[in-house]
Amino acid sequence: MRLKGKTALITGAAQGFGFGIAETFVREGARVAVLDINGDKAKEAAKAIGRKAFAVACDVGKGKSVDSAVAKVIARFGRLDIVVNNAGISHRNQPMLDVSEAEFDRVFDVNVKSIYLMAKATVPHFREHGGGVILNIGSTAGVRPRPGLTWYNGSKGAANLLSKSMAVELAPDRIRVNAIAPVAGETPLLATFMGEDTPEKRKAFTATIPWGRFSTPQDIANAALFLCSDESEMVTGSVLAVDGGRCV
Ligand SMILES: NC(=O)c1ccc[n+]([C@@H]2O[C@H](COP(=O)([O-])OP(=O)(O)OC[C@H]3O[C@@H](n4cnc5c(N)ncnc54)[C@H](O)[C@@H]3O)[C@@H](O)[C@H]2O)c1
Repeated sequence: MRLKGKTALITGAAQGFGFGIAETFVREGARVAVLDINGDKAKEAAKAIGRKAFAVACDVGKGKSVDSAVAKVIARFGRLDIVVNNAGISHRNQPMLDVSEAEFDRVFDVNVKSIYLMAKATVPHFREHGGGVILNIGSTAGVRPRPGLTWYNGSKGAANLLSKSMAVELAPDRIRVNAIAPVAGETPLLATFMGEDTPEKRKAFTATIPWGRFSTPQDIANAALFLCSDESEMVTGSVLAVDGGRCV
């Protein structure tokens, strides 16, 4: 039980990587808040995970929604130890100038501003309680960009770098901040990255990954477990690539 007695808030946890992280954290002894913009799906996910998980509807791109969700989580758990900023979206794979201003803004609200909003809502609590852990789900897209995903790639570059900057600023408060950079993964978001989900596209994407397959929610959850447990006490400001060698 590597997270025994810990409490964690995981955004975008109704499906995909976030769901995998939530399941794994509960298995390892944590109580988990499943935050998602899709409240009904979050409830289903929490039910599937078991009684140590509960659902909260939250739009991570909106300050009021984040503040109220965090207040609910702290009221329920009494104390918060871990925040995983996992919720993320992308525009479809397409030429960069075809992405509308509204889509650009939404990608940055959900992928970048959410990290700022969640920090405003949780860092004071962590400071009051002697520390905490923040894990941001960045991407290999922010390290080794693919064409057609330019604005998404930029948002993930920001998420990767914010993790380092937050880490150095928050270390005196005993707040660790790390990021995971997953390679293309088997989740509902994959089709958006590929433009279309066809055997040819899958073959082309996996051909660029030396290990020869997409990442899975369990791959990401295993890395998240290490970075959010006390085993990684000396690890802060790292961007851990879970990418089968894609960024080498
Ligand atoms: N799947 C990949 O190939 C891949 C690769 C690298 C990084 N990532 C990153 O991993 C994270 C998870 O991606 P995934 O593939 O599991 O995606 P997904 O689409 O399967 O799941 C994302 C979840 O986030 C929720 N969500 C979306 N907008 C939200 C908002 N505004 N507020 C709260 N919840 C919201 C969705 O409802 C959904 O349940 C994202 O940050 C993504 O950018 C994914």
